[in-house]
Amino acid sequence: MGRPTPPIDPQTFWDAKILGWEDSRYQAPAAAPTWLERIAGGVSTSLRFRQETALALLAPHVPGRRLVELGCGSGRLAERLTALGAADYHGIDVSPVAIARARERVADSAQARRIGFEVGGVAELPALGDALVFSLGLFDWLSDAEIGHVLTIGRGGAYFHAVAERQRSIQQAIHRLYVHLAYGRRCDYVPRYHALADITAALDRCGLPPCRVYRHPKMRFGIFVSDLPLSGA
Ligand SMILES: C[S@@+](CC[C@H](N)C(=O)[O-])C[C@H]1O[C@@H](n2cnc3c(N)ncnc32)[C@H](O)[C@@H]1O
Repeated sequence: MGRPTPPIDPQTFWDAKILGWEDSRYQAPAAAPTWLERIAGGVSTSLRFRQETALALLAPHVPGRRLVELGCGSGRLAERLTALGAADYHGIDVSPVAIARARERVADSAQARRIGFEVGGVAELPALGDALVFSLGLFDWLSDAEIGHVLTIGRGGAYFHAVAERQRSIQQAIHRLYVHLAYGRRCDYVPRYHALADITAALDRCGLPPCRVYRHPKMRFGIFVSDLPLSGA
């Protein structure tokens, strides 16, 4: 009989992982801490493409708008979005390690006055008013209840979320294998894939209509779901 995998809390997991993960995905692969992460980093063009595409799709909706990024990591988009004319940007992440780097990143920025970061889990957040609430790579790590909460607290504004769409594909099989080898065999905290029907059902439970969907082959099984018109990328 195999040993049961010990439960791990998200903050502990992300405090240990987030900076190495970001460096391997967004910088030169050589910055990655392990050979497995280096391989994953080398094929992470889809994540770099996702970030640039999110920026392009959000850009027309940003001027004058309050932005809230959930699971912001080290806040790589904060300065660029405020430079596009956002009223302000507020980044929230469960990892203090990520938020410390995010604050360092913008400390000397000309936009610093309009940027704020906060440590917190999405489950504890109150309603976010008329903000445009967005996330990249967060939904994969949330429970159904947390996804419902994110959609509910964003109801007064607009939303834009990246989701890993569940599909039968070689790419997703490789991703599952990578997750298993990298950490899934040692802990029970692994990313989820969502069918679009699950997202539509979650929206419906919150009283929201079906979303718009953006797909692109370079994002592999990543999609954006939003109530905004998605053009510009
Ligand atoms: C895959 S990383 C994505 C980081 C960044 N958004 C990006 O695309 O580069 C997921 C992020 O979500 C954060 N996160 C995970 N669960 C969370 C939760 N329940 N509440 C807030 N942040 C969470 C993690 O700390 C991590 O920074």
